[in-house]
Parts: sequence; structure tokens; C-alpha cells
Amino acid sequence: MKTFGLDELLAPLTQDEFFKSVWPEKPLFIPAVDGKLKELFEIPQLQNLEALVAARHSKVRACLPDFDDEYSSIHVEPKDALKVYDNNMTLVFDNMQLQNATIANALRQIRSELGLPMGTEENNLCKARSIAYATPAGCGTRLHFDANVNFIVQLHGSKSWKLVANTSVKNPTERYTASSFEMSAALEKQCHDMLIDEVPDDTEEILMEPGCVLMVPRGYWHETTTSEESLSLNFTFSQPSWADIFTKSMQEHLLQNADWRELADGLESLDEKRKALAVSKFEDLVKKLASEFSTISGKYLLNESGFLNE
Ligand SMILES: [Fe+2]
Repeated sequence: MKTFGLDELLAPLTQDEFFKSVWPEKPLFIPAVDGKLKELFEIPQLQNLEALVAARHSKVRACLPDFDDEYSSIHVEPKDALKVYDNNMTLVFDNMQLQNATIANALRQIRSELGLPMGTEENNLCKARSIAYATPAGCGTRLHFDANVNFIVQLHGSKSWKLVANTSVKNPTERYTASSFEMSAALEKQCHDMLIDEVPDDTEEILMEPGCVLMVPRGYWHETTTSEESLSLNFTFSQPSWADIFTKSMQEHLLQNADWRELADGLESLDEKRKALAVSKFEDLVKKLASEFSTISGKYLLNESGFLNE
């Protein structure tokens, strides 16, 4: 079974050094090293864009040129992918792990070595996925930050990256694109300062060439441009927070009790009486839970929800 993991992705940096001084908050650029990630570079469908499109059975996202942001995209059939690419649209190949076993194995191994919590299959808080990006020359992505962490391997061509630390929001749970004027209510509550709308002038440029690896932490601002065609592969992981772990675990715990499984009847009723009754019922449930709470341990909750097996 062909695979590789965090050791190969980070080389020559060791996992010890990575966990001690980089993960999870600092960005990391690793210049190309001869022979590194051989298993990945030998995958036939990653040899060039034509091979990647030929191996594709599901739709490809094509980024609309109006906004330079991958979330402004349309889905196209693989047979039309090269046509839209020739019209200067970046192609995004989601879920690459479903179309190649080496990528799937590596993704699983990297997630496990990062120690990212997944919980049960249904919970799958980590949502590990691999995404390939084919970017024509003269394109790019405008300044944004993501709620997940990305490990990027440059396969062919090159791409310039500018990274800027985020001083407006720590550990964001939502993605945001500069100047999009669309911010989720959740992100608005998390920001403690105004978000920037452009990269500061003195920001250094990182040139990703074949074999280079880049880790962009969750929340770190980044924008990209290409002066030639670029093909890269991402390993992307959501960042399950303690709040996620707690709420998932608590839900597992509460659902063992028929009173908590009861329909939240009348909570948004137009009848004020029914609504007041519902609020009072919830109040009672919460008070009862609060009184029991000191007997609930973290370990118990983790075991209930499958994050721990002890
Ligand atoms: Fe991004």
C-alpha cells in the first residue's frame, strides 16, 4: 500500500520540531528537497492538468473571474473543465482522496499523526479532505482567511503567496474574504478588532515551486497570484474546538434522557402562552442539568462521544 505521512510532508523538519515550535498557530514554508514526496509525485493523474481532468468522474469547481475567490464558483462537468480553464478560470478538484488511494492513505495518516479529533464516523468533526487547484497564469485568490488548516504541496509551475498574521480575530470558526462585506454573525462576535482589507506593503512574498510545502494555519490571512500556470494539492483539516467537543459530547449525554429528547414544542410559537411554557420547561431542564453537572467528568463525556476509548 503506497502511502506517506507527516514525516515525509515536513522533511527535513522533524515532527518533534513541528509540534514544539510551529503547530497549530504558525505558518511554515518548506523549500523543495530532491526526491521528497516521491509517492505523491509519481501518481499518474497528478502529472499534468490533462491527466487530472481525464481521471475525474465528478464535477469540478470553476472559480468565477469576477471576485477571485474560490467560493464564487460554478460546478462544471470534467469534459468542460479544460475549456473554462482556457478562459482563465481556476479549477478546484474537491475530494481528491476519493479518486486516488495514495492520497486517501496519506490524508488518513497525516490526520492521525496531527492527532486531530474526529469522534465517531457520523460526527467526523475533522473533515479531512484533499483538494487540487489548477490555476492559469495571471490569476489568483484575493486576500482571505480560512477556518481550517491547509498543507499545500506545489506539484507543477509556481504560485506566489503572501501571508499575514491575523490580529483581529483569534481562532476564527468561519472563513472570511477581504472586501466581501459578507460576514457571518458568528465571526462578527469573534472579532475584537477591524479586519484588514489589503496586505500590508512590507509583506514578504513566498514563491511556491514544485516540491515546496506550505502550511497555512487556521485564521492566517493569505492571498495568491500566478505568473505561470500552477498545479497544487492541498491536505485540508477542519479544526475541532473544545466547544465542538463539548457540545457533541453533551448532546450524546443528553440524548440518553427522554426529557431532553422531547420535542422543543412551542418555543417559537406565535401563541405567547405556549411560548412561555416552552421557555419555562427549558429553564427547568437546564437547572436540573446544572445541579447534576458537578458529577459529570470530561473523561466521561469524551468516552460517551467516542473521542476516547478507556
Ligand atoms: Fe485559503
